[in-house]
Amino acid sequence: MTAQRLDGKALASTMRGEIAERVSARKQAGKRAPGLAAVLVGDNPASQVYVRNKHKACQQAGIASTIHTLPATTTQKELLALIDQLNADPAVHGILVQLPLPKQIEESAVIRAVSPAKDVDCFHPENVGLLAAGHPRFYPCTPHGVVKLLNRNGIAIAGKEVVIVGRSNIVGKPLAVMLMQKPTAANPAAGDATVTIAHTRTVNLAEVCKRADILVAAVGKAGVITADMVKPGAAVVDVGTNSVEGRLAGDVHPEVWNVAGWLSPVPGGVGPMTITMLLFNTLSAAELIDG
Ligand code: GUN
Repeated sequence: MTAQRLDGKALASTMRGEIAERVSARKQAGKRAPGLAAVLVGDNPASQVYVRNKHKACQQAGIASTIHTLPATTTQKELLALIDQLNADPAVHGILVQLPLPKQIEESAVIRAVSPAKDVDCFHPENVGLLAAGHPRFYPCTPHGVVKLLNRNGIAIAGKEVVIVGRSNIVGKPLAVMLMQKPTAANPAAGDATVTIAHTRTVNLAEVCKRADILVAAVGKAGVITADMVKPGAAVVDVGTNSVEGRLAGDVHPEVWNVAGWLSPVPGGVGPMTITMLLFNTLSAAELIDG
């Protein structure tokens, strides 16, 4: 058995086309182009690549994108001053501060400084709270990308056993919240699933994973999800972005292709979907702010 590909690259291309059309319609109606400001502090090579890819994707969709590059020695005060300026700028609808930040800067202070209306990462506590309460303003980009990848490949989520390996604030935790909730008009990406989160202290990880109809790997360790951990025919979503000898590798071992029913490749799976959902949120922010 060879799993079917959950092709994020192809779906991202389709969805970016849909977003570009909506952006173009807004411009034709005389509205301002949605604007994204990305802030990059320091010289983390992976962050530089991510920010560049986000910038390119914005340009292709007609979204006005600016990158603010600050040195690794930037103080928290300097970064907060830039965020204040972007919060007040009417051409900026979305603000993204690329993480991680240098150690002299407190991440939570920066996350709280971004105006919740412009928080296209959905990291601000107000937006995390709205999501948890079932009234999201934005969905966080990677979890939303995972849900779209399943939905648009016809994989049913409602009533299914979902196991998420990883409890991060960026992926595992918000994805669990989304997948367990009941869908409503205000919360269309909710999954109605039975959700388990597994993590480093989970006993019998393989057994827990094997219960999953949908298994999401968001661990951050190359190849840790092996074939013996996967129920035959399960849909497996690989959120891993590990660097192995200079190449991008997922959390899922290649042998899982022989067991799973569906598998998202790395690269070309969740990564392009994350960027697509950022474009989606920037357009949503422009609609919420400008009408
Ligand atoms: N670093 C790793 N993933 C992300 C993300 O989704 N958003 C931001 N801002 N930084 C990140």
